Amino acid sequence: MKILIASRNAHKIQEIREIFDLPGVEWVSAADVPGLHDVEEDGDTFEANAIKKATELARATGLWALADDSGLEVAALGNAPGVYSARYAGEPCDHARNNAKLLRELDGQRDRSARFRCVAALSDPAGRAETVSGSCPGRIIERLRGTEGFGYDPLFVPDGFEQTFAEMGAEQKNRLSHRGRAMSRAKDKWGGLIASNAGGFA
Ligand code: IMP
Repeated sequence: MKILIASRNAHKIQEIREIFDLPGVEWVSAADVPGLHDVEEDGDTFEANAIKKATELARATGLWALADDSGLEVAALGNAPGVYSARYAGEPCDHARNNAKLLRELDGQRDRSARFRCVAALSDPAGRAETVSGSCPGRIIERLRGTEGFGYDPLFVPDGFEQTFAEMGAEQKNRLSHRGRAMSRAKDKWGGLIASNAGGFA
C-alpha cells in the first residue's frame, strides 16, 4: 500500500517512516509526485489545516494521505502564535525573527507557560479523514539556549526538564514532542488499517 505524506520536508518523512515502521507500506513524499500543488494552510485551527492538506492531496492523487500541522500556543498571549507559528514575524518564515518577537511579546510577563500542539490527519482516497493529536506542555525561557532542532526549540523547556528542545538530542525530543506523541497515536489508531491494505475508512 502506498501512502502520501503531505510534506516536502525529508526530515519529517524519515521520522514518520521510522515511527510507523510498517512492512509493505511505501511512503511517498509530496516532492515525489510531479505537478502536485501546495495546499494553502489558511484554516483557523491545526485540525482544519491538517484535514485540508490530507484530503486535498488524497483526492488529487487517489492515494491515502497523511498530513500534520503544528505550532506553539502561549497562555499569556491568548494561545498565539498558534496556527500562525511559522509566519509569526511575517512571511517568509524566519525562525530567528519569530523567536525575537516571542521574547518581545513576553517581556516582563510572569506567566511563561506554553505548549506545542500537533494534529495529524489521515485521509482515504475518497477524502474521508480522521485525526489524532499530541501536545507537549512547557515554558518559554528568557534567552535562546541550544543549537539543535528548529523553530522555537531554543526557547522551549518541556515540563519536567531543565534543557530546551534545542539542547536535547533528536531522539529525546521525539519521545517527548507533540509530533512524536501525535504520530505514535496515529500508529496505534491507523497502523492495523494501513497494514490490512484497506480501500478506505468504513
Ligand atoms: P509545521 O506545521 O510542522 O510546519 O510547523 C509550523 C511552525 O510551528 C514551525 O515553522 C515552527 O515555527 C513551529 N513548530 C512546530 N513544531 C515545532 C517544533 O518541534 N519545534 C519548534 N518549533 C516548532
